[in-house]
Amino acid sequence: MEFATVVRQRRMVRNFTGEPVEPAVVDRALAHALRAPSAGFSQGWAFLVLDDRADVERFWRATAAVGDGPERAPNRWLEGMRRAPVLVVALSCKAAYVERYAQPDKGRTTRIEDRLAAPYWHIDTGMAALLILLTAVDEGLGGCFFGVPPERIDALRGEFGVPADHHPVGVVALGHPAPDLVRGSVASRPRRPLADVVHRGHWGGRGRGS
Ligand SMILES: Cc1cc2nc3c(=O)[nH]c(=O)nc-3n(C[C@H](O)[C@H](O)[C@H](O)COP(=O)(O)O)c2cc1C
Repeated sequence: MEFATVVRQRRMVRNFTGEPVEPAVVDRALAHALRAPSAGFSQGWAFLVLDDRADVERFWRATAAVGDGPERAPNRWLEGMRRAPVLVVALSCKAAYVERYAQPDKGRTTRIEDRLAAPYWHIDTGMAALLILLTAVDEGLGGCFFGVPPERIDALRGEFGVPADHHPVGVVALGHPAPDLVRGSVASRPRRPLADVVHRGHWGGRGRGS
């Protein structure tokens, strides 16, 4: 598929047919994720792949507390998302950056937070997740990146043995797209125009052609 088409067609898909996804496609998406850039080439990311129905259900039980009282009853979002046959939990590892930035070509003694303009471990993992989403579109699949509720992160760690130095930045659900059950924010909020977000030459400088 043309790259510009992949970019334009990408949107979060929150309902799936349940039809299985070819393992080779998941492998391609993961291989693409590893092509993401990372600060200092630290590559402080990891991906917990759940592509077996029982594992996917364990994920939802741990994180969405399915059947855990009326307030946790399955909702429309969950109904669609639970049909995704594959979940890729994207985890960032700050320790990899601390170690990398202490090496001779980078080494200084200041705290890593004082050296980096932003928490690059999360950013790099997000870039990798985007490559998974774009690969899904290229393969004719749908994907949705979503966050694990903070109060459920320990349960996720416990269920799948995720080490303490790996933080689940988000999850990419993958599958064959089905019609929406819920409207994403994009349905109720306009995409911000270029002129609002681009400041050319100086803050407040107008976009090209304006
Ligand atoms: C960091 C991040 C967290 C998100 N968390 C969720 C989420 O928890 N649940 C969800 O349904 N969508 C989530 N989204 C998807 C956004 O709602 C979506 O990207 C946005 O509305 C724009 O729509 P589009 O991606 O379809 O263009 C998340 C997106 C990002 C980048």
